[in-house]
Amino acid sequence: MDAAVVTVPLRDFQWDLGAIRAAVTVRTKLIWLCSPNNPTGTIISDDDLRALLDALPPTVTVVLDQAYQEFVDDPGAADGVALLREGRENVIVLRTFSKAYGLAGMRLGYALVDPAVGNMLDTIREPFNVNRLSIVAGPAALADEEWMRACVAKTAAGRRFLSERLSGLGFRVVPSHANFVLVDVREDAQDLWARLLRRGVIVRPAGGWGLPTFIRVTVGTQEQNERFLEAFGAESKALAARE
Ligand SMILES: Cc1ncc(COP(=O)(O)O)c(C=O)c1O
Repeated sequence: MDAAVVTVPLRDFQWDLGAIRAAVTVRTKLIWLCSPNNPTGTIISDDDLRALLDALPPTVTVVLDQAYQEFVDDPGAADGVALLREGRENVIVLRTFSKAYGLAGMRLGYALVDPAVGNMLDTIREPFNVNRLSIVAGPAALADEEWMRACVAKTAAGRRFLSERLSGLGFRVVPSHANFVLVDVREDAQDLWARLLRRGVIVRPAGGWGLPTFIRVTVGTQEQNERFLEAFGAESKALAARE
């Protein structure tokens, strides 16, 4: 679409909304934010987001990707739905069934928007973009709040377990509000990824995000979390150098 994309770096793993605001010009049409963010797991605060929205011309649309929002329990976190309820017409909230609802294979997500924006999106939406099975699964998943809450609770416990264990071993773990943790493994993460893969453990090396010594570890079952820690303990060069 020939749009010029302007990127604003994170500051200490956090969105820098002041810098984003400073980067806005008369040509700015859309700002894309993500809270909780992937791969850091960090959140944007409600106060910071409101300050940004209040400072923007109404012609600038703000997309808030909240794919991991169900995992957030911080009352100070940005809440796109609350902003829409207040009538902020220039906010688009994106959510997915792929994370806390465990339905990634359904390929189903949704946008929450002002009705006028919805009509506009409909004009460019592809026909038959959601299949019939997903149309049944989505509302059923939303109705089963108990299952989702149990998934979130187990994930939070696993996230705490992984964070505490990795921090206890002396690694920097970015405080996460999502279903993964980002950790500085203090070695080439791509290389470590390959060694862990040979042990049947898949993590995500973060070099593509400009973090060549970090891996993102998705929270699994307790058994999977322990299996990761065991493989990591056997393969980590930083740990071996300590011994
Ligand atoms: C921040 C963020 N937004 C959106 C998505 C999209 O998820 P899906 O395409 O499975 O709905 C992901 C998936 O990893 C994500 O990390």
